[in-house]
Amino acid sequence: MDFLPLYSHLELARFYWKMVLQRGDWAIDATCGNGKDTLQLVNFSLGGIIGLDKQQIAIENTSFLLKKSLQEDQYKKIHLFCTSHIHFPSLAYNYPIRLVIYNLGYLPGSNKKITTVTEDTLKSLNAALELIMPSGLITICCYPGHAEGAKEQSFLVQKVQELSSAEYAICHHTWPNKHASASLLLIQKKNSY
Ligand SMILES: C[S@@+](CC[C@H](N)C(=O)[O-])C[C@H]1O[C@@H](n2cnc3c(N)ncnc32)[C@H](O)[C@@H]1O
Repeated sequence: MDFLPLYSHLELARFYWKMVLQRGDWAIDATCGNGKDTLQLVNFSLGGIIGLDKQQIAIENTSFLLKKSLQEDQYKKIHLFCTSHIHFPSLAYNYPIRLVIYNLGYLPGSNKKITTVTEDTLKSLNAALELIMPSGLITICCYPGHAEGAKEQSFLVQKVQELSSAEYAICHHTWPNKHASASLLLIQKKNSY
């Protein structure tokens, strides 16, 4: 048998997005950054995407990438907001949100001191847990290689351990023999809730 490389945390996240999304669903990209993840989401037949970032430059980068990569009707389905993901915009509460994605840390190619912060990420996760529909999924790419990222991952893991296994299926994908490597946290709301 040929060597089968294991999926990276990002590839694995995208695999799960594909598995979970159904035609007409809505998704939230809670950390748009340069828009690469948002662009991936467009591949699925979504009703729409809500994209958030607290930095104006990130929203501009995302908008630029999407405009140059997409046709007008696809671009119109994406609603970008320059705001913190502590709360989701009211628009989000009007649509069936099947997926919320986070890619934590700093904006690649920009100021590394502006990162996601533990307190806000935990608040946002609470909002996302409420918002997603049954069988909906939250994916969180964590980067424990920097101090805030290590704290963030540790608090997130602690937080999800407190969630009821009757309500949520949770998996943490890590690379145990690679120090401080990126990891993927998956949280799925069970159907009976
Ligand atoms: C690793 S980058 C995201 C990468 C992006 N998904 C992509 O594909 O290019 C993390 C982003 O989170 C944003 N961010 C940090 N705190 C935030 C918050 N409270 N609300 C929304 N965005 C935040 C940062 O500005 C940064 O652009």
